[in-house]
This record gives sequence, structure tokens and C-alpha cells, in this order.
Amino acid sequence: MIQKQTPVHHDIHHLIEERWSPRAFADKPLTEDDMHLLLEAGRWAASSNNLQPWRIVWGLRGTETYDRIFGCLKEFNQNWNKESAQALWLTAYKTDMKDGEQENFHALHDVGLFMGNVSVQAQSMGIALHQMAGIDFKKAKEEFQFPENYHFATAVSFGYYGGDLDSIPEDLHEAEKKSMRERIPQSEFAFNGNFQK
Ligand SMILES: Cc1cc2nc3c(=O)[nH]c(=O)nc-3n(C[C@H](O)[C@H](O)[C@H](O)COP(=O)(O)O)c2cc1C
Repeated sequence: MIQKQTPVHHDIHHLIEERWSPRAFADKPLTEDDMHLLLEAGRWAASSNNLQPWRIVWGLRGTETYDRIFGCLKEFNQNWNKESAQALWLTAYKTDMKDGEQENFHALHDVGLFMGNVSVQAQSMGIALHQMAGIDFKKAKEEFQFPENYHFATAVSFGYYGGDLDSIPEDLHEAEKKSMRERIPQSEFAFNGNFQK
């Protein structure tokens, strides 16, 4: 099993520290119950005005919905998901509020909170996920018949940790095996005062 090193500067919860985004998932199916459990974790996320603007399309490997979601991925993402992902989601959000009179500027933020909950819940179950911006947004909207006032945000693939490297293209093996995870230091993004370069 690939082990990642996360050089934390402060002691954080192990579920956050140990999460990472594999492309090679274990060859172990996920179930409808798993999906509903993960969706339930997302359901209890906070959202602006409790508007819950998130919408999720989900499909398990071997089903028609999975294939339809797969068809909305950009080629790069299709290549590594093809033999690896055990479930696929599309995340979308309602862009307006107040009966369409006002834009909901925080809807994308709230989808992020939803996925944050899902990530932690999944980690507690030994399930990994990999979020993807590389999707055909227009196709997804048409394919799943979403109204005009919805936008798609991401696709997400799911599966248990511990996948076989052979299930993903060879040019991605190095990235998958790279042990050291990297982040910019807090001093670059957190200001106890004015913005700093
Ligand atoms: C919104 C979002 C979009 C992403 N898009 C892609 C993508 O299209 N393809 C891909 O292989 N990885 C994608 N990633 C994965 C990131 O590259 C990955 O999360 C990042 O390198 C940090 O690695 P970690 O999640 O293992 O800590 C995306 C992640 C997020 C959160």
C-alpha cells in the first residue's frame, strides 16, 4: 500500500492528515449504502442561509449512470478512471436564490463544504476520493437534464485505498507513488493583518 508523508506543522486530526487523492483505487466494489452514507455526511454541511444549493449525480461502477458520468469526464481523467474508480459523482449547485431574483454567490463555497464533510466521512471508512475539475460542464448539464440555473462544479471518483498501480496509465505512476505531500506555509495564505505578498 502506498504510504504518503504529510509534514504537518501542528497536530491535526488524523483523518485530515491521512487523506490523500489516489488515482488507483482498490478493486473492491462500493455499495448503494456507502453512497447514501457519504451523501448523508454531505447533507449535514453548513450552507449560506441553509439553502443547501448542492446537487449530486451518483453512479456505481457497472451501472448506466456511472457510464453516463464517465462520458462527461475530460479525456485525461477518463484515462485513469477507466479501470480504477468504483463510483463516480458529479457535483452541481443552484446558482440563484429568492425565486431566481438574486444570485447565490456562496453556492460554490457550500458545495466545497459538502465535499469536505464527504471527504472526512469517507476517510473514516477507509474510502478515498479524487475530485476533478476536468469535466465537460456543458455536456454534463445536458446529459442529466439540469435546468439553466444550475452549474456543474466537479466530478469525483471513489474507491478504497490500496489500488494496484497497473489500473492507471504508466505516466501517472510516479505521481501516485510520490511519498511527500506538499503545501504552502501558513505565512503565505494567512494574514494576522494586511495582505502580504
Ligand atoms: C476542485 C478540484 C479539482 C481537481 N481536478 C483534478 C482533475 O481534473 N484531475 C486530477 O487528476 N486531479 C484533480 N484534482 C486533484 C488535485 O490535484 C489534488 O487534490 C491536489 O494535488 C492535492 O493532493 P491531495 O488531495 O492528495 O492532498 C482536483 C482537486 C480538486 C479539489
